Amino acid sequence: MTTKVYITRKFPDEALAKIREHCHVRIWDEEDIPVPREVLMQEVADADGLLCMLTEQVDEAVLASAPRLRVVSNLAVGYNNINVAAATSLGIAVTNTPGVLTETTADLAFALLLATSRRLVEASDYLRAGKWKAWSPMQMTGQDVYGATLGIIGMGRIGEAVARRALGFGMKVLYFNRSRKLDSEREYGVTYCELSTLLTESDFVVTLTPHTPETANLIDREQLALMKSTAVLINPGRGGIVNEAALYEALAGGQIWAAGLDVFEHEPVSPDHPLLTLPNVVALPHIGSASVQTRKKMAMMAAQNVILGVTGRMPNELVN
Ligand code: DGY
Repeated sequence: MTTKVYITRKFPDEALAKIREHCHVRIWDEEDIPVPREVLMQEVADADGLLCMLTEQVDEAVLASAPRLRVVSNLAVGYNNINVAAATSLGIAVTNTPGVLTETTADLAFALLLATSRRLVEASDYLRAGKWKAWSPMQMTGQDVYGATLGIIGMGRIGEAVARRALGFGMKVLYFNRSRKLDSEREYGVTYCELSTLLTESDFVVTLTPHTPETANLIDREQLALMKSTAVLINPGRGGIVNEAALYEALAGGQIWAAGLDVFEHEPVSPDHPLLTLPNVVALPHIGSASVQTRKKMAMMAAQNVILGVTGRMPNELVN
């Protein structure tokens, strides 16, 4: 019987060719339409490997319908879309793509921070709409980044990469993490503090913690109420960590100054979502790791993981 890998989205050519050297590949060859769940269930029924996106819910039911499955290779560093415990109990390897997207995602976090604090999207729209009649002292004024205090929630690889960028902007960096990161403290001069202190003292708060049951709604009404009225919240991590209804109220009521969001609780976010009606929100369609170079590297890494998994070898980036 030939080894079969199922890929759930249009996939970069080079990485696809690599998998085809080792296995028979079937693919949901669409860019903008996720594979319907019933198709996914049918396709995994005789698959040895699944290469999926963060949009696929690989839950118990999907895993149970895949008796031959040996590996689920996720094209993302986050893997909250996969029931890892269920996969583990069935002896299925789960892999992700860490490392290769760190700098690209940190770039996007900083891009959001600058775009939001200096109102870039709003100012550009203002100009294009023909509203710019004259230069004026307080027109389109934002918040300073240089020398401000940055609070990073989740000091993993991407958190550290954001901290490195912040040093170039003369920022004081606070962080909150499950455990203290003494190496990061030594290397980047970042200071550990409790979440409430971070929220109270920061001019910019960046959420980079993984989405788990413990971090769901980590930033809710109570936490937003601690932030400065001039503070900016940036979420390049995962939707669901920030309570969107509470965030809307805080932004609309002037409790915080602005937000930059690359992720949402439900993706794709509806264009009618209340947050998108606010001028002080910069919203992006989950493009944190979306550079040509990085997406190709992620695809190659996911390809390598699925090949190793289906050929009975230990994948490099195993999460279980
Ligand atoms: C990830 O990898 O988890 C990002 O959210 C998508 O690149």
